[in-house]
Amino acid sequence: MNTSLFLRTAGVLVALGLPTLVQAFSLERMQADLQALLSQGPRVTGFPATIAAGEYLANELRKVGYTVEFQPFTYSRTRDQGSNLQVGTATFPVSSIAGSPGRRVEGPLAVVPGAGLAADFAGLELQNRIVVVRRGGIPGLEKAQLAAQRGALGIILVTEEPSDTRFTFGGSSPIPGVTISRSDGDALFGLAGSRAVLDVRILREEVQGRNVIAKRGPENPRVIVGAHYDSVPGSPGANDNASGTVAVLELARQLANNPLSQQIWFIFFDGEEDGLWGSRRFVEQNPEIVRGLKGMLNLDMVGVNVTGALGIGGSGELRALADCDALQVLCGSAPGGSSDHVPFAQAGVPVLFFFRGLDPNYHRPTDTFADPVLLAQTGRVVQGILQRLLR
Ligand code: BES
Ligand code: ZN
Repeated sequence: MNTSLFLRTAGVLVALGLPTLVQAFSLERMQADLQALLSQGPRVTGFPATIAAGEYLANELRKVGYTVEFQPFTYSRTRDQGSNLQVGTATFPVSSIAGSPGRRVEGPLAVVPGAGLAADFAGLELQNRIVVVRRGGIPGLEKAQLAAQRGALGIILVTEEPSDTRFTFGGSSPIPGVTISRSDGDALFGLAGSRAVLDVRILREEVQGRNVIAKRGPENPRVIVGAHYDSVPGSPGANDNASGTVAVLELARQLANNPLSQQIWFIFFDGEEDGLWGSRRFVEQNPEIVRGLKGMLNLDMVGVNVTGALGIGGSGELRALADCDALQVLCGSAPGGSSDHVPFAQAGVPVLFFFRGLDPNYHRPTDTFADPVLLAQTGRVVQGILQRLLR
């Protein structure tokens, strides 16, 4: 079929009100979406770049006929104002972990051995000390709590990640906490007992976020398809998570003229990186809608092929609806990562989490790339699930 005949056929189908299934996921359009989202810099909640991103999404969705609403919400967060660690005369670069209190503490360094799991803290004398411990195994917040219970004044988590990676406690830590690079951390392990000054300087601020909600019909949705569109400070957030955002946006376009979309709300969550604020507020404020959901599908980090497969985690029943073979997409499993599906799962909604693995640029200034081909593959798998779930 030549192009003009194809276009005419598509036009006739549209005129007849038939679903425009002839239209495929457009790589060019998704590339343009990615560019638009990345052009303004990191989409930190409350920043002009994020407000512009929300407007862009709303406009694109309205263009294809969706009704778009913003759901505003506020919360308080801390921002790093430059923190540092001094041991003797040496100064080490550290970065505060989001959720840490701002405080200057002073005391001898104490080292937690091994991987720094709960058992490794047992029997340690940490009173009035600054704790050095490896990150990983158990949540950093749990390590901070264990240290605080033993009287520690502060905690330094030694990470394997590059020093420009941003971390969060995902809650409030009772004592100031920072991360330090592996090489500097290795030096600290040899300095147990030395006097240290840990100065964590943060600013507490009120921020406003906005979820962008697109719907077709007046009815409550049976399914929510979502992705967070915010990113961490200093990171353009291409894979985390312009990738999921653009895949959901293009899927919404694909389904715009399909009756299926009457039963779906497409939600672009804000405030995810500061602690799942957007999805938590949505769940809190819409108990009736949440009760009626057959599923919530969340796309987070789907634009870089880390594992070679599209990871799908969550409810087994929903997972069984994914027909990856028919779409020639290699699918695997996803770890129980923390993202916007979690508040829905906690409210009893069956969820699926689409995730292609943690790429090396995660939460770094180098997170600048997402592959539209992978976004299209992900979108098609999600579309297939929706078709089976809602028929
Ligand atoms: N995109 C990640 C989600 C993620 C990260 C899933 C790693 C699986 C593995 C998300 O934006 C994120 O960074 N989440 C934070 C927690 C959140 C509550 C701030 C995380 O997982 O550390
Ligand atoms: Zn993310």
